[in-house]
Amino acid sequence: MSINRNVLTLDEFTLQQLRQFPTATGELSRLLRDMALAAKRVNVEVNKAGLVDILGDAGSINVQGEDVKKLDIFANNQFMGVLQHGISCAGIGSEEMDDFVVFDDEISNNSKYVVLFDPLDGSGNIDVNVSIGTIFGVYKRVSPLGKPCTKEDFLQPGKNQVAAGYVVYGSSTMFVYATRRGVNGFTLDPSIGEFTMSHPNITCPPSGKFYSVNHGNFFQYNEGVRKYIDGCQRKTKENGGPYTQRYIGSMVADVHRNLIKGGIFMYPGTIEKPGGKLRLLYEANPFAFILEVAGGVATDGIGRILDIVPTSLHQRTPLFIGSKLMMEELAEVASIK
Ligand code: AHG
Ligand code: MN
Ligand code: MN
Repeated sequence: MSINRNVLTLDEFTLQQLRQFPTATGELSRLLRDMALAAKRVNVEVNKAGLVDILGDAGSINVQGEDVKKLDIFANNQFMGVLQHGISCAGIGSEEMDDFVVFDDEISNNSKYVVLFDPLDGSGNIDVNVSIGTIFGVYKRVSPLGKPCTKEDFLQPGKNQVAAGYVVYGSSTMFVYATRRGVNGFTLDPSIGEFTMSHPNITCPPSGKFYSVNHGNFFQYNEGVRKYIDGCQRKTKENGGPYTQRYIGSMVADVHRNLIKGGIFMYPGTIEKPGGKLRLLYEANPFAFILEVAGGVATDGIGRILDIVPTSLHQRTPLFIGSKLMMEELAEVASIK
């Protein structure tokens, strides 16, 4: 039987990348493999989410008498578990944990990466069968190897990420990750249970038709942002329009679509939440890294997302992210940077 060598699995691809750097240790490839394994486990549970009445509601006991965990806690435990038991990660920060988790065992203390993640993004969409996702950013630790990792390892600006990625649990399940060398997307092939290269070398079109924002908050945005959104609604064929408003409410799915098709995603500060809603460390930073590698732009309205020096695990940030030319127009119209 002949095997089609043109279609690479995620593992084959990362190993192929590794072979180009004979001195590399392979730790990042292993870490990505661990993340993909957890994603596959989460995918299985996400696919059963609609059976919740049969299998038991979150926090309840199912018909088999087992405890049913909330899906975002389940996802958190899967990602934390593979990283803790793997050999590439010294500690994690997660949306679902109050504080950073330092693994502190001999292997972990000698591992060079820390990972920040949102185990399940868009979890409000679970019970209505709409796409959700996972987001993660990987940093090389700055503390010395051989000791437990420290807070400084986690509180690095996003530009220090060595890799970032996301998983979309959608009409198909995809694993997309970026290193400085490029962004590549893999679709889960259920017949072999492997993520398989489907979107090589993703670049974000410099312009697009989609703008994604919560219109329900319109009157809570500042004047500049309102002016830009108003302009989006008035676009015609003559000036690159008409635009289409698309907002799922799962950042992963919204930004994924705009990355592939071209577009802009905004979660500005509001009167109620001037600092925005989205989290810098495990939502904004990974996507800012991915979009920049793909040729896009990401800011908080004051400057580049990736330059922000974080001060805490769960800090929030306004976020404007997307196609380069659309981001330039936003900056001009809304008078932001
Ligand atoms: P999470 O489910 O991890 O808490 O994140 C949800 C986020 C993000 O995915 C989405 O873009 C945003 O919340 C939607 O918020 P609004 O409903 O306020 O628009
Ligand atoms: Mn989220
Ligand atoms: Mn979440």
